[in-house]
Amino acid sequence: MSAEGRAPLVEARGVVKTYGGGLFRRQGVTRALDDVDLDIGVGEVVALIGESGSGKTTLGKVLLRLTSVDSGRVTFEGQDVFAAGAAALRQMRRRFQMVFQNQAANLHPKMTVREMMDESIRLHRPELDDAGRTALTSTLLERVGLSARADQRPASLSGGEKRRVGLARILATKPRLIVADEPTSGLDAAIKQQTITLLKHLKDADLAYLLISHDLGLVRKISERVVVMLKGRIIEDVPVERLGVSGTHHPYTLRLMQAAELLEDHAPSTEGEVTRAGAAAERVEVTSAGCVYAGDCALARRLGILSKCASERPQFVDVGERHRVACFGLTEPGRESNV
Ligand SMILES: Nc1ncnc2c1ncn2[C@@H]1O[C@H](COP(=O)(O)OP(=O)(O)O)[C@@H](O)[C@H]1O
Ligand code: SF4
Ligand SMILES: [Mg+2]
Repeated sequence: MSAEGRAPLVEARGVVKTYGGGLFRRQGVTRALDDVDLDIGVGEVVALIGESGSGKTTLGKVLLRLTSVDSGRVTFEGQDVFAAGAAALRQMRRRFQMVFQNQAANLHPKMTVREMMDESIRLHRPELDDAGRTALTSTLLERVGLSARADQRPASLSGGEKRRVGLARILATKPRLIVADEPTSGLDAAIKQQTITLLKHLKDADLAYLLISHDLGLVRKISERVVVMLKGRIIEDVPVERLGVSGTHHPYTLRLMQAAELLEDHAPSTEGEVTRAGAAAERVEVTSAGCVYAGDCALARRLGILSKCASERPQFVDVGERHRVACFGLTEPGRESNV
């Protein structure tokens, strides 16, 4: 997947990550990432969607080397992330950051917002003198809308304000990539809206986001490109303007889109039918070499290609500009290209 027209910022190639096999061997090995390739361009906003357990958080962590890999390669600004020594990794970590998980836990209870900012800037921007740090603190607090709260301590901040302090501290490092993992989950509507506005506001031409989210509304508002994951694999990579039932191609993406559109129409009972229709499908012997959706795929049955799907891995085919899909249903000669 190339981030066409942009210089590459992150490139992941053939990344495999399994969990288990040690103490947990008895419970079997989970292939959380199964040969994943992903590019993120400088300043690009890429959303990662897919059901729970599909490997999204693991992929975000792998890009930042917050977890190990079994095999594969990740580069950040051309540097091999997993080959980097301690000093190089420290340098890199200033430039890429994961936010929103346990953000509040990182705030020092006895320090004011201003003091915490000063400390972060002192650490990450050693070239600045006292006046430079003071000026940058003011600028960053203004950017996240916290100027009036500079002398408060965490105990008197709301949950949304604590998240914003976390973001302001991250911005002090001048990051090139922010991985935002479910940034709006668990938030009420007003705070959710504030977070969306803030993410848009903080975006500048050099800053890329990898936005991991179930929330298609958020994805549509912020991202340029949407990457769909299922069971450790990327199955579709689509420009955001094509995200929807009429613009996406992979049968699993379509199922996600149908469910989302039905939810948007406030018809949860029908959404249940979509899920049941998939769950009730005839089971086949799906090998790990095959398509991860073969067990549930009505298209494969209709096209009579299920045995191929169950035993061979579909490669990406281009179905439009910057739009790729991994599915045999689109490549069979003379077949329709959509469900
Ligand atoms: N620390 C871990 N130990 C064991 N299994 C894990 C761990 N983290 C994730 N997994 C498993 O890896 C798979 C992918 O998980 P995750 O990356 O969290 O997916 P997502 O973010 O899409 O929900 C899941 O099957 C999950 O249970
Ligand atoms: S490769 Fe086959 S099983 Fe997989 S989504 Fe396409 S048609 Fe369905
Ligand atoms: Mg997750």
